[in-house]
Amino acid sequence: MTEIIQIDPIHPQKDPIERAAALLRAGQVVAFPTETVYGLGANALDADAVEKIFLAKDRPAYDPLIVHLKGYEWLPQVVREVHPNVPQLAARFWPGPLTLILPRQPVIPDRVTAGLDTVAVRVPAHPVAQALLAAADLPVAAPSANRFGYTSPTIAAHVLADLGGRIPLILDGGPTQIGVESTVLDLTRPVPTILRPGGITREALESVLGQVELARQPGPEEAAQPSPGLLPRHYAPHAHLVLFRSSFSQALPALRGRVQAALAAGRKIAILLQEEDLPALLDLRQKVELRVLSRRDDLLTFSQNLYAALRDLDQIGADEVFVCTLPDTGLGLAINNRLTKAAAEVISLPHTI
Ligand code: TXA
Ligand code: MG
Repeated sequence: MTEIIQIDPIHPQKDPIERAAALLRAGQVVAFPTETVYGLGANALDADAVEKIFLAKDRPAYDPLIVHLKGYEWLPQVVREVHPNVPQLAARFWPGPLTLILPRQPVIPDRVTAGLDTVAVRVPAHPVAQALLAAADLPVAAPSANRFGYTSPTIAAHVLADLGGRIPLILDGGPTQIGVESTVLDLTRPVPTILRPGGITREALESVLGQVELARQPGPEEAAQPSPGLLPRHYAPHAHLVLFRSSFSQALPALRGRVQAALAAGRKIAILLQEEDLPALLDLRQKVELRVLSRRDDLLTFSQNLYAALRDLDQIGADEVFVCTLPDTGLGLAINNRLTKAAAEVISLPHTI
């Protein structure tokens, strides 16, 4: 049985935090909200506890976990060498959705790092995560609290749907604020490299570090060679997601063609879009599920709503979901990355100005 306890996301009550912390100290797993997505935590120093995360999620052992810390002052416990840029990055972005890859301390079990000599660390900003780390007084390894490969949970009901019966406790702090995962920044390479774009933008990192590279993301055809942080199809709904790599207006003729063909074949269709694009599709509203995620200038709302929309479309049995990429700036980079990984099919259209 999985217990769900409501908790105030701003002023978390002491009792549920103590319950969850006691479970963590006893080597159990607990799901809890962070500012990005819900995590499934376990004592990062206990290989048997961490094993329970992999079992609950059906996660393959080659995919390493992020270790969550209460604050910068916990870093020496888990990291062997603090890269010269870390103090500045921590001062600016911690607590917050930035994960750093750094050389690990031997005390971190291989199970956490998939045997790598590095460890991923972040200090989450969510008050529930902060309170839990303080009460447990332990570094907590926590991947997103979903079945491996599926979209990350942004509300407690998503966690329950994926992990119900497999974990003892979910702290329900309501919807998460950012909706996509943290940015994973590798500081062990000669130039700091974003392995996974996320809640902290490339532009914000560049303002501190100067040059920042973006790791080339593998295409679906490269699935055979998984590399940590760079898995190809991931965050994927059950529906066949078709991503147009172009603006909505450029994609419109091709999109309409695909939608008509799919409707003719009797398939249930959904389109994810921005509010400004709705008028161009209103004629389809009786036949197609039109989901507005945000206004064009509000990417945070888009990222908050994205995973819930994908899960909801799976719930209603959508066969095909269509969506266009956003400009690759700010949170758009992370959103486009998740859309690409969620896609079963990517259609690139030539860009015209
Ligand atoms: O926002 C987040 O980061 C959420 C919340 C719960 O904190 N966590 C999360 O964890 O997204 P997970 O396990 O779903 O994603 C961790 C990512 C994976 O892409 C993993 O391959 C990468 O971080 N990673 C972990 N350790 C690594 C390492 N030592 N080197 C390279 N990549 C690493
Ligand atoms: Mg995940």
